[in-house]
Amino acid sequence: MNLFDVYPLYNVTPVQAKGIVVTDDKGQEYLDYYGGHAVISIGHSHPHYVKRLKEQLDKIGFYSNAVQNPLQVELATKLGQLSGCEDYNLFLCNSGAEANENALKLASFHTSKTRVIAFKNGFHGRTSAAVAATDNEKINAPLNKQQKVSILPLNDIDAFKQEITKGDICAVILEPIQGVGGLDEPTSAFFQEIAALAAENDVLLIADEVQSGFGRSGKFFGFQHHNIRPDIISIAKGMGNGFPVGGILIHEKIKASYGLLGTTFGGNHLACAATLAVLEVLEQDNLIENAAQLGVYFNEKTAEIPQVKRTKGRGLMLGLEFDFEVAELRKKLIFNQHLFTGGAKDKKVLRILPALNITKAHIDTFFNALKAELN
Ligand SMILES: Cc1ncc(COP(=O)(O)O)c(C=O)c1O
Repeated sequence: MNLFDVYPLYNVTPVQAKGIVVTDDKGQEYLDYYGGHAVISIGHSHPHYVKRLKEQLDKIGFYSNAVQNPLQVELATKLGQLSGCEDYNLFLCNSGAEANENALKLASFHTSKTRVIAFKNGFHGRTSAAVAATDNEKINAPLNKQQKVSILPLNDIDAFKQEITKGDICAVILEPIQGVGGLDEPTSAFFQEIAALAAENDVLLIADEVQSGFGRSGKFFGFQHHNIRPDIISIAKGMGNGFPVGGILIHEKIKASYGLLGTTFGGNHLACAATLAVLEVLEQDNLIENAAQLGVYFNEKTAEIPQVKRTKGRGLMLGLEFDFEVAELRKKLIFNQHLFTGGAKDKKVLRILPALNITKAHIDTFFNALKAELN
């Protein structure tokens, strides 16, 4: 059997990884400034993470959601404390798309309405409603197009008002910092106005923190830069540092009932142990503060590169915008400089999403490599 050929692959075969260093099958080391699509939050094979997962595997790796799992309770408590979201309840699933799918479904259950507002260049995953809320025709099958979604320009409050007042909207979903799209953000004024209009119109506000959450933006959640409170917050990626896990934080005003949401694998013992290990390292090593500080340092260093039009993003969720498409540059960075970076829907943006415990020296190394390829 062959693999279903959907991924254009770089010819690199990682076999080992530690911290920010990924080693391939020929012993070549690469510095990882991308974390495999923003997934590696505390560094590859972090010792505390490895220990916690191994210990958990020796005890129990999985049982279904038909029995008590105290690790889920421990995780909800710790997540509430560290994120400042103690007035939310946690539902655990397995991926970012699934988190958003559950968030949208819950909004529809809660409001008994069907239409969703999403935004241009947004990305929310590849499942039914999540992909329909994603601004990419190519990944929406005819089946997905049955969903009722209106995709509006970001930061256009008049367009938003016109749609939300029509009475059939259940949810508005947005990324506090767009990931795949290319690091654009809602302004604070826009975020605050849509939050207020959502509340007035019985619409749930969903912050898709799948990429921007868990400290990446320099605060626990990206929306916390804007002084708003979403009704539902979706999480995944950095949450498990590579272990597949996702979830939604649901404001306590939204009531649960048996069977409303559910999953076989979601919240299993290993997923909880992985997420708890991530939270413990974020806290012990002050990684959110580190992300905030290094984001500032990264911005300062950008001034040394005249080819960069501007830096976008916050903390260690960053994009460098050039006046040329970056695909060739990314290849050169991998094969000549041995470092991984990311691309975006906006082909002129180079995405930088390293582990949150990188140092200034790692950033200096990145800029030296970039200068070598640009000059
Ligand atoms: C903001 C955002 N939401 C949702 C997703 C989908 O997550 P997953 O690939 O885990 O389904 C992604 C993935 O890139 C994302 O960046």
